[in-house]
Amino acid sequence: MRFGHFDDENREYVISTPKTPYPWINYLGSEEFFGLVSNRAGGYCFFRDAKLRRLTRYRYNNVPTDDGGRYFYVKEGDTVWNPSWGPVKTELDAYECRHGLGYSRITGAKNGLSVSVLFFVPVGKTCEVHAVTLKNESKEKKTFQLFSFIEWCLWNAEDDMTNFQRNYSTGEVEIMGGGQTIYHKTEFKERRNHYAFYHVNSAVSGYDTDRQTFLGLYNGFHEPDVVFSGKSQNSKAAGWSPVASQCLEITLGPGETKELSFVLGYVELDKSQKWESKSVINKKPATELIATLDSKAKVDAELGKLKAYWTNLLSGYSVKSSDDKLDRMVNIWNQYQCMVTFNMSRSASFFESGIGRGMGFRDSNQDLLGFVHLIPERARQRILDIAATQFEDGSAYHQYQPLTKRGNNAIGSGFNDDPLWLILGVAAYIKESGDFSILDEQVAFDNDESKSKSLLEHCKRSFDHVLHNIGPNGLPLIGRADWNDCLNLNCFSETPGESFQTTENREGRTAESIFIAGMFVSIGPMYADMVERKGDKAEAERVRSEVKKMERVVLEKGWDGDWFLRAYDFFGKKVGSKDNKEAKIFIEPQGYCVMAGIGVESGHAKKALDSVKEYLDCPYGIVLNNPAFTEYVIEYGEISTYPAGYKENAGIFCHNNPWIMIAETVIGRPERAWEYYKKICPSYLEDISDLHRTEPYVYAQMIAGKDAVKPGEAKNSWLTGTGSWNFVAISQYLLGIRPEWDGLVVQPCMTKDVAEYKVTRRARGATYEITVKNSGQARPAKLTVGGKAIEGNQVPYAPAGTTVQVLCEV
Ligand code: GLC
Ligand code: GLC
Repeated sequence: MRFGHFDDENREYVISTPKTPYPWINYLGSEEFFGLVSNRAGGYCFFRDAKLRRLTRYRYNNVPTDDGGRYFYVKEGDTVWNPSWGPVKTELDAYECRHGLGYSRITGAKNGLSVSVLFFVPVGKTCEVHAVTLKNESKEKKTFQLFSFIEWCLWNAEDDMTNFQRNYSTGEVEIMGGGQTIYHKTEFKERRNHYAFYHVNSAVSGYDTDRQTFLGLYNGFHEPDVVFSGKSQNSKAAGWSPVASQCLEITLGPGETKELSFVLGYVELDKSQKWESKSVINKKPATELIATLDSKAKVDAELGKLKAYWTNLLSGYSVKSSDDKLDRMVNIWNQYQCMVTFNMSRSASFFESGIGRGMGFRDSNQDLLGFVHLIPERARQRILDIAATQFEDGSAYHQYQPLTKRGNNAIGSGFNDDPLWLILGVAAYIKESGDFSILDEQVAFDNDESKSKSLLEHCKRSFDHVLHNIGPNGLPLIGRADWNDCLNLNCFSETPGESFQTTENREGRTAESIFIAGMFVSIGPMYADMVERKGDKAEAERVRSEVKKMERVVLEKGWDGDWFLRAYDFFGKKVGSKDNKEAKIFIEPQGYCVMAGIGVESGHAKKALDSVKEYLDCPYGIVLNNPAFTEYVIEYGEISTYPAGYKENAGIFCHNNPWIMIAETVIGRPERAWEYYKKICPSYLEDISDLHRTEPYVYAQMIAGKDAVKPGEAKNSWLTGTGSWNFVAISQYLLGIRPEWDGLVVQPCMTKDVAEYKVTRRARGATYEITVKNSGQARPAKLTVGGKAIEGNQVPYAPAGTTVQVLCEV
């Protein structure tokens, strides 16, 4: 069952009912000011950090779901309704929500009145615009009231929902223009140099800033007293919960339209500029910001800039094929999701509260892979920020806070895969940009400038960190966990509530990871290439010989007969082996070892992938392990805590499915790779939205696996490494166009169902127009570049500004 449709022309998903199986959301903002908005106008906004600078309130885990947002209420006669249907839930005559790139437009109509609200953050500005279009579609004159409503968050989102003894006494506002502009200035008097405001570019008949006055005692957002009585109380918040609501009296003749522009903004001031006079905040920056958005023409121009911003970004990679579902994911939604994960990491979604997790060392390096071609400069900065949280021994803080860029002590380090992801991120950046100078950048260790070394040295320490932490079988020690946060082989936790990620109750010098070994073999050579290009041949040789050695160890000690083992546990026993009772096979090492090329010639790789098909594949994707754990296994940790079929316990953890897709291309099986691609790709799941539940335009982190109560049901949409890895799989390996050190490799491994396609790829300032004639056989590509046949599958980089025609036959 569907709840809307794709509008590819406008790059929008059009939702046709507010009653989607879960709130379907979108993100506003691209640099500093961000918002989340659901198809029911739920959500919140923040400046840079969803925990430390939250502007408006949202109630996670509330009933009803999706509570708190930017609400507009219409009162015409005795009828009160919202264009977003909720919170009042009056049945509408028409409803539509269009989620586009960086904006959403929600339109509702009732009794011949149509109200449309466009939400977006103008490029380079620190505010949201809520542009309201009111249209009388009836034949009679209409007189009605429009009420706006938002609820302020007292800045620190965590404190805001815990520290009531203080917070109920701190809230302060200022009211200007009879309520036309409402300023939120809690804590401005003391140490905060910032405030927020909500403004409308039209005279108002009243306002409210005190929540209880607006709602009424014991009322919810669906029954605000002020709206139902049709009378603002001009309340001034003093402590409790400050809000901002304006009331406008509107009359529209038949066919008449009225445009309003609401601005929800954020202002930071220099300490010396904070006050206009005693207790009166300096409103100049707010007034200036408002002046840039106070007419329909200005708002339209800003929307135009936002659209141009996205058109430019997305022109870095696009495909034209006979398959719409494929094209819309590659050209629009998958890349869009990659930008969102780059901006948000794992901080703020409808499953991530914005207060829990900062930027992950491993996550951010992988997120890079999906957007580096869009804005390489921002990838460069991100890499330097991440690398500065590394320790001198090569290990790394697992997470850091985006506002401070400092490592998070509460989580600490000890995730032994972390260091290697840095090499992968750096290599992806250089291959894309050609900017080897990044390797010479001096970067701190643990944010201590006195301990700075070149980024290349950071990569060396990453590589050596593995070698300095080898276990009894010659395989890398796993530490607290590798990519799989929940495989905690040194944890041995018996205390409820104890974190599986930060607890190490046993000395971790035995448990080894075949997954990290696969990463080492796959990623190590990238460091060798970099160091060789910097002129150090001896180091490159050392690296390559260590990699060779590890490859042999994997085949000797990491092979179980029909697939790669997952690990050795604390006691030296096999994990992910047919000798085990449960979880005999895991997905991660099959993917990464084959991506590394291990066992491709000897046939181990093919065997491993056939086992994936036999034991892990199901109608909704590839599960993480099989059979699922049904009991808590203390020596394995969190993985065995989840009910069977969910999350890391045999869920379809979508992040690692593309490793198998890529692995299938490594052994030349395009149809398998394609089948796996389609299984988890959201645009192909649109028809089962009722089961899937999350948005059909973005990937979810997890889909319930075959052992679950409800296989096929997804959770944790938006913020997941799934976005970037699927983009890598489809764009670089199936469609087959990927940047290498000296040229663009064109080597498709694509289903015969897509017989011909065209890719336009920007790289290092040049544009490549690539036509692929595809037989569906995984053969070495035959390339014609600018009319001339060339040897091999690599198109040399052309000078910036040029356009290169490539014909690829495969
Ligand atoms: C989550 C984490 C990621 C981890 C994955 C598997 O998505 O953000 O770092 O690799 O789970 O446990
Ligand atoms: C929990 C989640 C896992 C996530 C981790 C990050 O263990 O199950 O998916 O990666 O937390 O802290």
